[in-house]
Amino acid sequence: MADRHSEKEGDVLSLEALTEPNGVPFDTVVIVGRGGYGAAPRQELERLVASVARAGSFRAVRYAFLEQGKPALPAVLEQCLAAGARRLLVVPGLVPMDRTLRWWLPLALRDWLREHADADVEVALAPPLGDSAHLADAFSAAVLDAQAFPDVREDPTIEERRRSWSHLPSHRHHVLLCSGPRCTLENAPALWEYFEAKVRECRLRGKQRVMMVRTGCLYPCDLGPMMVVHPDGTWYGGVDETAVDRIVAEHIVDGEVVQEYVCTPGARQRTKSSPESG
Ligand code: FES
Repeated sequence: MADRHSEKEGDVLSLEALTEPNGVPFDTVVIVGRGGYGAAPRQELERLVASVARAGSFRAVRYAFLEQGKPALPAVLEQCLAAGARRLLVVPGLVPMDRTLRWWLPLALRDWLREHADADVEVALAPPLGDSAHLADAFSAAVLDAQAFPDVREDPTIEERRRSWSHLPSHRHHVLLCSGPRCTLENAPALWEYFEAKVRECRLRGKQRVMMVRTGCLYPCDLGPMMVVHPDGTWYGGVDETAVDRIVAEHIVDGEVVQEYVCTPGARQRTKSSPESG
C-alpha cells in the first residue's frame, strides 16, 4: 500500500490522495451502475467504458452492477485482481446516488479490501457522477440533442404493451430473493442462477408452482443473502447453495419450513459480525 494511506482516510483512499502530479494514478477503472436486466443497461455502461478506455490512460476499464444485474461488483473486483490490478478506481455512475449508497459503498469496498488483505491492491472511490461539475454540461447537450424527437404518439419505436403486464401467473409459492447491493456482495447473483437451475431441475415451473422474483433491498442486510417464501411469509437468512437445496426440497416441495435458516421478524438474529448473538 502507498505510504499516503493515512489512518484517517481508512483503506479506501480518496482520488485526490492518489493523484500523481505527472501522470495517471490508476491502472484500472470500474464504472458502477445501479442495476438492470437485459441488454440495454449493459450497452449503456459499455459505451461509458469505451469512452473512458479511448483516452488510453488505463490498462483496463470495466463496468459492474451494484445490484440486480451481472456482472456484479464483487465478481468484477475479483477479476481485476486476477488480471493484475494494483491501483483501482471505482467510479459510481449512478444519477442520482441516494444517501444510503453514498454511505454504504465506501464501507463495502473497505470490507472487500479487508477480505483481501494479502493482495497488493489499492482501491479508491471517485465522487458520485451527480457531484461532477461536468454532468450539467453533458445533460444540457443531451437535452439539446433531443429537440427533434417526435410526439410519443408518433414514435414508431414505441411498442404496444404486452398482455402479460396485466396477467398474474398462477403459483403456489412466491419466492423473493434479495438482489440488493449488500446481498449482491454476499453472492446473491450466483445464488439466483443456482436457485433458477434448481427450480428447473425439480420441474417446479411447469405448472407455475414457483414464482421467483429478484428484489431490491429487503432491509435486514446484515443477515443476507435474504430469501422470503410466501404464502406463509417465511424469512430465510444467510442463504447459500445448501440452503437453496433444502428450501426447495423441504419447504417448496414438502411444505416443511427449514428452521436452520429461518429469521424471525422482531427477534434478534445471528449475524456474521456477531456470531455469538442470536
Ligand atoms: S441488500 Fe439484501 S436485505 Fe439489504
